Amino acid sequence: PSGEPELEEFSVASYACQRRTSLENHNSSLTDALSLLAENAELNDEEGRGVAFRRAAALLKALPSAVLGVSQLRGLPCLGEHSLRVIKEILETGTSSEVESTRASERFKALKALTGIFGVGAKTADRWIREGIHDLQQLRASGQVLNRAQRAGLQHYADINQPVTRAEADAIQAVVEKAVSSVLRGAQIVLAGGFRRGKLSGHDVDFLITHPEEGREVGLMPKVVSWLEAQGFLLYQKTTRNSYLESIDGPGRPPSNMDRFERCFSIFKLPVAAESSQRAWRAVRLDLVVSPISQFAFALLGWTGSKLFERELRRWAGHERGMSLSSHALYDNKQGVYLRAASEEEIFTHLGLEFIPPSERNA
Ligand code: CTP
Ligand code: MN
Ligand code: MN
Ligand code: MN
Repeated sequence: PSGEPELEEFSVASYACQRRTSLENHNSSLTDALSLLAENAELNDEEGRGVAFRRAAALLKALPSAVLGVSQLRGLPCLGEHSLRVIKEILETGTSSEVESTRASERFKALKALTGIFGVGAKTADRWIREGIHDLQQLRASGQVLNRAQRAGLQHYADINQPVTRAEADAIQAVVEKAVSSVLRGAQIVLAGGFRRGKLSGHDVDFLITHPEEGREVGLMPKVVSWLEAQGFLLYQKTTRNSYLESIDGPGRPPSNMDRFERCFSIFKLPVAAESSQRAWRAVRLDLVVSPISQFAFALLGWTGSKLFERELRRWAGHERGMSLSSHALYDNKQGVYLRAASEEEIFTHLGLEFIPPSERNA
């Protein structure tokens, strides 16, 4: 009756872990805008706002076609008033004034530049900005005392901020595979993170390491790291030992969200094909995690991401099922028992969710 063409209304489930989100995004200008606002909120230590923008962006990523008008979004979950205002302005004018002014702001640019240094988080960047440091040059000139991670991060800044390709991830996988099988026969590695979700590039490479016999994986990380170091493959590494068992003070204690696996955050020295570069190698961020086989399904689910998909799984578990999910275990708060799982599929079943394959966890 209004004479306006009727646009189809979308219908989408509330939790990202109930939805299939492939890499195909029909609303990338909207999701890029909301992601920038999310990033800015996170860099300013406003976690709640950050999550709200991330949820709104994730919802738009799951839509089957491009949004043409806000009327199509009526009744959808996850879209707060602020996000809707940004979406409406972009649909009507092509850009959002808030997004553009944020992108151009000195503070946002400085936070991005400084947190682009491996080992520098939002808090450190904020302190430096208050001391008048806005970029790498000013940081180098400031005489600030940097820790070992930050010194390595500054040294390899350009390499680390250049996206990692799938081919580079495969090349690193071959080396890590050799390291792992050399130090413990039968030990296995699995590619996790964004590459397992089918992304063609990433900011790092993530591997999970395990052994089919429970207990054989104990002490594995230092051996893998020593092998890689002896072969000259590590420019930096920091290994943290497993503290999961220490964290359990008795039956019935739900697992915390922080995972406590033996892990290693490192910078890998990747040899580069001679004809493709003037240089013999480049630096790539590499994360390694060792998991006992009994927790492997939880570790794999937890380290595959996306970060928002993981957060939504935990929210679903807690709010809808009365369960606590971590990268180690699933705990049923009502029954007071841990629920075992040998595969990701079993975890989704315990949670009462349809199985979502890794390639559709790109929320
Ligand atoms: N993760 C985690 N604890 C950390 C760091 C990461 O549990 N301290 C998990 C994240 O929740 C995510 C996975 O490890 O599920 C991979 O994290 P990350 O490498 O940061 O993100 P990716 O999705 O791999 O994205 P990118 O391609 O940019 O690396
Ligand atoms: Mn599609
Ligand atoms: Mn990653
Ligand atoms: Mn990582």
